[in-house]
Amino acid sequence: MCGIVGYVGPREATTIVFEGLRRLEYRGYDSAGVATLRGGRILVRRAEGKLSNLEHLLADQPINGHIAIGHTRWATHGAPSQRNAHPHTDCTGEITLIQNGIVENFLSLRQALQAEGHVFSSETDTEVIVHLVEKYVAQGCSLAEAGRRAFAQIKGAHAIVLLSSREPDTLVAARLGNAGGVTVGLGEGEMFLASDIPAILEHTRRMIFLEDRQMAVITPTGPQFFSLDGQAVEKSVTEIPWDPISAAKGTYRHFMQKEIYEQARSITDTLRGRIDFETGVVTLDELNLPPKAVSQIKEMVTVACGTSAYSGLVGKFMIEALARVPVEVDYGSEFRYRDPIVDQHTLVLAITQSGETVDTLAAMEEARQKGARLVSIVNVIGSMAQRISDGVILMHTGPEIGVASTKAFSASLVDQLLLGAYLGQARGTLADQDSRSLAQALAELPELAGRVLQDGYNDYETLAHDFHDREHFLFLGRGINYPIALEGALKLKEISYIHAEGYPAGEMKHGPIALIDESMPVVTIAVQDNVYDKMISQIEQVKARGGIVIAVAHEGDQVVRDKADYVLTIPRSHPLITPILAVLPMQLLAYYLAVRRGCDIDQPRNLAKSVTVE
Ligand code: M6R
Repeated sequence: MCGIVGYVGPREATTIVFEGLRRLEYRGYDSAGVATLRGGRILVRRAEGKLSNLEHLLADQPINGHIAIGHTRWATHGAPSQRNAHPHTDCTGEITLIQNGIVENFLSLRQALQAEGHVFSSETDTEVIVHLVEKYVAQGCSLAEAGRRAFAQIKGAHAIVLLSSREPDTLVAARLGNAGGVTVGLGEGEMFLASDIPAILEHTRRMIFLEDRQMAVITPTGPQFFSLDGQAVEKSVTEIPWDPISAAKGTYRHFMQKEIYEQARSITDTLRGRIDFETGVVTLDELNLPPKAVSQIKEMVTVACGTSAYSGLVGKFMIEALARVPVEVDYGSEFRYRDPIVDQHTLVLAITQSGETVDTLAAMEEARQKGARLVSIVNVIGSMAQRISDGVILMHTGPEIGVASTKAFSASLVDQLLLGAYLGQARGTLADQDSRSLAQALAELPELAGRVLQDGYNDYETLAHDFHDREHFLFLGRGINYPIALEGALKLKEISYIHAEGYPAGEMKHGPIALIDESMPVVTIAVQDNVYDKMISQIEQVKARGGIVIAVAHEGDQVVRDKADYVLTIPRSHPLITPILAVLPMQLLAYYLAVRRGCDIDQPRNLAKSVTVE
């Protein structure tokens, strides 16, 4: 969950590392630090709180060098404070380290190291690693060998980078398990390291990803790779197609805002080259699922977390309708703890924007062990989820920086529609005419999304004005739009800190109806689909109890307009596409309410973009 950046080369290393941290601030923002080497000495600057505090410290007490590491922290062990911020340094002051992950056996290691005379200066689990490295360096090991021996002793998942004044041109990095990525960026006479691609994208697009239990020893002339048992490893280079501009905020006030408004474009990119809009035929080359493999699938299980899990719930409706395959959806964090029933006839679909969410990766590993075929819908190219899957459908939505996921949600819905159509075409469950009408609707989708996102199409400012002081919201949806109610509630909770619940509308009378009064807005998705009449009666039930209704409805629906207090409209479309349009007002409602409440939109409290701890 922490952000990691490293640099070695001729340029001013602290500046490059700090700029990289700025792009990773969404990873963790309770403290930050950098370390460099100057005159044979390690120099460290650390500050509690947001990155701007470190920026001020560096302005007051600059440190310059040609090798540096930097870290943004999301606290696990030890409160957010300057002394617990990374980098952590050993007793000699010669070795310093940054880490992402939890050292599960840190207590016993710490006691043993203290008994050997090591003095600790923080409350973190991380610090044991640097003292272990110190111990092996004192025995005559190189930094890489000392790291290798230390890494063999620590339990848990980690991404680690080491820097030592004894080897002033070398960074040592390692990945152990799924605590987030370690990416080596290749430059000319300079090398970069990062937990996430956007941190170094402006310097290079040529990247190498560490696999589990691999290390990199990096000097300005290039990296060498080893397994943790010391064997040399050959690695291939991935060219990242992302444009550095796409990782910048541009003229927008917030990344979340930019990413919401980008969706007409990002949906186009997700569709591009994958569907013939005339015939409706879907081609998903990287899915690696030939017709013979499709014919062996008896059921699907989707594993994901948070917004991606809600996307999976919408996808269940899409895939079952198009391919007539039963789809079960489970949280990554639950799946592996229930001895799931999957086998070689199960297609397991992981949905993950980052491709590094530890619970989703663990669920994928569980499915793999049980013999399931594994495919994923992923945004971050080269991420672990992509690498461990048998096939992939990339979101093609560009980097998503806002902690609240928006454009990745709509892209993953488009991907699931394509997957459903692909499976339906291979299984013969989707008639040619139905393929064509879906394709036609998908062709119109970017334009329809653009319409919903146009200035003045819906009035969010009024809603923000009228409801920014409310404590609770209820979101209701039914059928394929029920998960959109869940997603609307999640978006609101995350960025505005208003308590919100998403509920299947038909269940309201079984409990939540007791909450309804004149102070709690009820957001209902009441589009003209097969459950429209039912949704109208839900609205009536809310109104009969004095509730306030904010309805998402189709353009021109006078019935809803007459009954609801406020209406957010969306254009009519194919019923399987409607959720992709219905989520847009949910995102904008949450965004405008949070802005009005003065919340920190891109760095909501306690949250991190990639959740790499259990
Ligand atoms: O990267 P992933 O899609 O695997 O992330 C899953 C969740 O952590 C993520 O969707 C989270 O719920 C977002 N903050 C939602 O906006």
